[in-house]
Amino acid sequence: MELDAAGVLKALQNVLEPEIKKDIVNLGLISNTEVNGTKISFTLYVNNPALHNKNRMRDACLFALERNFGKDIETDINILPNPKNPDNIDSRKILPGVKHVIAIASGKGGVGKSTVSVNIATGLAQRGYKVGLLDADIYGPSAPLMMDLLHDKPQPIVVGDKQFIEPITSHGVKVLSIGFFAEVNQAIVWRGPMASKALNQMFTDAYWGELDYMIIDLPPGTGDIHLSLVQAAPLSGAVVVTTPQDVSLADARKGINMFQIESINVPILGLVENMSWFTPAELPENKYFIFGKDGGKQLAQELDIPLLAQLPLIQSIRESGDAGRPAILQEDSISKKALDKMIDNLELAVNKL
Ligand SMILES: Nc1ncnc2c1ncn2[C@@H]1O[C@H](COP(=O)(O)OP(=O)(O)O)[C@@H](O)[C@H]1O
Ligand SMILES: [Mg+2]
Repeated sequence: MELDAAGVLKALQNVLEPEIKKDIVNLGLISNTEVNGTKISFTLYVNNPALHNKNRMRDACLFALERNFGKDIETDINILPNPKNPDNIDSRKILPGVKHVIAIASGKGGVGKSTVSVNIATGLAQRGYKVGLLDADIYGPSAPLMMDLLHDKPQPIVVGDKQFIEPITSHGVKVLSIGFFAEVNQAIVWRGPMASKALNQMFTDAYWGELDYMIIDLPPGTGDIHLSLVQAAPLSGAVVVTTPQDVSLADARKGINMFQIESINVPILGLVENMSWFTPAELPENKYFIFGKDGGKQLAQELDIPLLAQLPLIQSIRESGDAGRPAILQEDSISKKALDKMIDNLELAVNKL
């Protein structure tokens, strides 16, 4: 069989839609097929957008393609919920143009979840990706401060005949924060259903457009609000942040468990150990393990998940957060080096999904 678009469609006719039991090509579930040398790309629409089904359908397509064209092909399959399936209307409304939705979570507050979120978002934007940052931390939204947007308010825009909220761009990242919708220090009043509603609006009533990555700074903890948030967002994966301290590790474990329960089933992209050691600016090779040593590293090993980074505690990371300029923007600094390595590892983990 020729390795061209027609050949690819022919090969994919061997893949059946699991419910309807007819082939995915004749059901109209394949579009935008392109072949470039040995590189095959296409869009696959799935009637059931649950992660396990997406993975199963991707594997079935890969199997059919490799059987026909050998193992040397490269594939780029964009999997989207089938817009023609009435069951998918909700999932289609939620962030339809976003490729990877990544939650940044921690069991405990104050471990550096927001610092990690803003630096990942800004670092990915530096690499040329289209990035959104959704600060969903109802207990302590930090994106307005850390992205230098304390005095900004998002404005409505009209697209088609519908009004949306427009995220505000800072350091190349489109940002929305629950903090934009409450007066400073009032965020604590967001509770239960009200919080869920406000958060859902940031998904469905905001005009995010096409994004490569959406980073969500989740509230710390594993309660009801977290569960409903994690269920509402079409998450591709989660990053869990912890310090090397036992109290933080115990909560990180709970956070990881939450993503792994059956009804959630979100892959853990990796663990970030933050504040791994203190390094004074004038003695950068000195390390002081003030919160203990390698706690996060050991947890990652034990649970067999990637360790994305061990980030040092450095005064300039705190200062740059407070100044609204994420530390990853400081060229040639030890902070930037550590943060860039974290993003390299995150990209690797995302590519393995
Ligand atoms: N690696 C680090 N080095 C220095 N300060 C840090 C580091 N990580 C976080 N901080 C600071 O610690 C405080 C808590 O971090 P934050 O990211 O707000 O945590 P969380 O979002 O988990 O509550 C902030 O003032 C932040 O600037
Ligand atoms: Mg925070």
